[in-house]
Amino acid sequence: MSSLRVLFLVIVSGSAANMEITNVSEYEAIAKQKLPKMVYDYYASGAEDQWTLKENREAFSRILFRPRILIDVSKIDMTTTVLGFKISMPIMIAPTAMQKMAHPEGEYATARAASAANTIMTLSSWATSSVEEVASTGPGIRFFQLYVYKDRNVVEQLVRRAERAGFKAIALTVDTPRLGRREADIKNRFTLPPFLTLKNFEGLDLGKMDKADDSGLASYVAGQIDRSLSWRDVKWLQSITTLPILVKGVITAEDTRLSIQNGAAGIIVSNHGARQLDYAPATITALEEVVKAAQGRVPVFLDGGVRRGTDVFKALALGASGIFIGRPVVFALASEGEAGVRKVLQMLRDEFELTMALSGCTSLSKITRNHIVTPSELNHSISRL
Ligand code: FNR
Repeated sequence: MSSLRVLFLVIVSGSAANMEITNVSEYEAIAKQKLPKMVYDYYASGAEDQWTLKENREAFSRILFRPRILIDVSKIDMTTTVLGFKISMPIMIAPTAMQKMAHPEGEYATARAASAANTIMTLSSWATSSVEEVASTGPGIRFFQLYVYKDRNVVEQLVRRAERAGFKAIALTVDTPRLGRREADIKNRFTLPPFLTLKNFEGLDLGKMDKADDSGLASYVAGQIDRSLSWRDVKWLQSITTLPILVKGVITAEDTRLSIQNGAAGIIVSNHGARQLDYAPATITALEEVVKAAQGRVPVFLDGGVRRGTDVFKALALGASGIFIGRPVVFALASEGEAGVRKVLQMLRDEFELTMALSGCTSLSKITRNHIVTPSELNHSISRL
């Protein structure tokens, strides 16, 4: 091979290695290269056939825009208020467990990135950093995601600690009476690496996960999480805390009405990132049903498959007050730590701002249902031609 050809190959492969990240999805391939297979699979997987996993993305791609033109978009305001807290944009961080498997700074890095972007981070019950440790990273608006353990004393103590650590709301996860069947985790015999603990439970002897014949997490859930959880417990939770409760995991009108009747301060339309019940609808498909049932009485949020600023816009056009992202955060953490999470938030913000400008919307209140068209509406107008 000529030396010129070698030089060319070196330059080409060098530039590929340093290729600039231009959208949040690109972090996934880097994370896959960097992480042990067991960890990458845990973060990436959905349940069973992973139909819902694919659908969470594809359903966004079937929604199209009806942009408005010749509107002065020289100034765009993306600020909003969530449960009374002003944030810079309607893009927030969903709870994802065990972030120190992705990066040694794990939840600390996520907390710092969220507060630098002036948005909300939700800390998982199953974090590898405790509520107190995350609070010690500095100021920030944070929510605490709660799994309800069989031992209610454990839950009460944890909620108290979250309150004392300055968390502003509880996101009560209601779609996990048992863990969904994530086959990669079963094959990998997934378990928390021995150098890490579920820090919120360290002193309570629930911080470690035993290795099992299938998924160690599925066994942990079967042993500790209360499958009998019901609407009565939403009331019980209100009796032990003054924090507002967001019900996370609603995808029907019926459960929207029950959530409101039982005192929810807000609803998160979520299918748990397609990790629980496979063949549940994409969240963006379920959103409008929930929004209609909520009748404006409580804010409705969405998570699941949000990877673009256009996705954020579509969710808001269908009535969401904001969205949360899950996997993009862990993949960016694995790739570049705090800088990666900052970049994810910045990229989504920039894309969302551009979408607003190109649709003729100068503030969130200007985004309407008429700015988008859904597949059923498209079919309807085609059949009338
Ligand atoms: C999650 N999710 C989740 N939800 C929750 O209530 N408590 C938790 O501890 C976790 N842990 C968790 C770990 C990982 C690796 C993933 C991918 C997801 C669900 C999460 O909050 C959110 O609903 C989805 O991640 C949103 O979908 P996307 O953005 O990942 O597509």
